[in-house]
Amino acid sequence: MSWGHVKWAHADLRVLIDAPEDAARPGLACHVGIYFRTATWDGRKVQIGGIGGVSTREDCRGRGYATLALNAAIRTLRDHEAVRFAMLFCEPHNEAFYQARGWHAFNGEVYAEQPEGRIHFEAMAPFVFDFTRKPRDGIIDLCGLPW
Ligand SMILES: CC(C)(COP(=O)(O)OP(=O)(O)OC[C@H]1O[C@@H](n2cnc3c(N)ncnc32)[C@H](O)[C@@H]1OP(=O)(O)O)[C@@H](O)C(=O)NCCC(=O)NCCS
Repeated sequence: MSWGHVKWAHADLRVLIDAPEDAARPGLACHVGIYFRTATWDGRKVQIGGIGGVSTREDCRGRGYATLALNAAIRTLRDHEAVRFAMLFCEPHNEAFYQARGWHAFNGEVYAEQPEGRIHFEAMAPFVFDFTRKPRDGIIDLCGLPW
């Protein structure tokens, strides 16, 4: 699977964690993007929360920053009552990281917009975090660019 060519959505909100004072250099240590989207699940409109751009600077990894930022992002999405579940897309080598943090594989199909039109989005594996709905299969149309 390749995702180098994918056109991604811009985050609506971001969780940013600064490097600690004992880091080799100052600046940003960790980033998580937050997205709000009216999508469809099996043809019905549903508000979903997106999480993307999860990244911790190499020299700041293993300190719990990504976990902290993910939790803050999930809390932010959950505060919006209309949001039924959260969704992210990840590469195979990161699936265990998210599964250990309560995310579940979504086994259905995902569609998204790209400049060339609506596509079956298979560039990365979809994972969901349950709020009031627990999607595991069916068809989710992101009704916009992926994140
Ligand atoms: C994955 C990533 C975000 C983790 O950031 P981090 O701030 O180090 O994460 P945390 O400190 O919260 O968690 C670290 C824990 O996750 C584990 N972990 C890290 N990457 C993992 C992976 N790919 N699979 C399973 N576990 C992983 C670590 O072993 C560590 O475990 P421990 O707490 O038992 O020691 C970071 O390694 C990164 O930026 N990687 C490159 C970008 C990337 O792949 N982003 C994800 C896009 S989907």
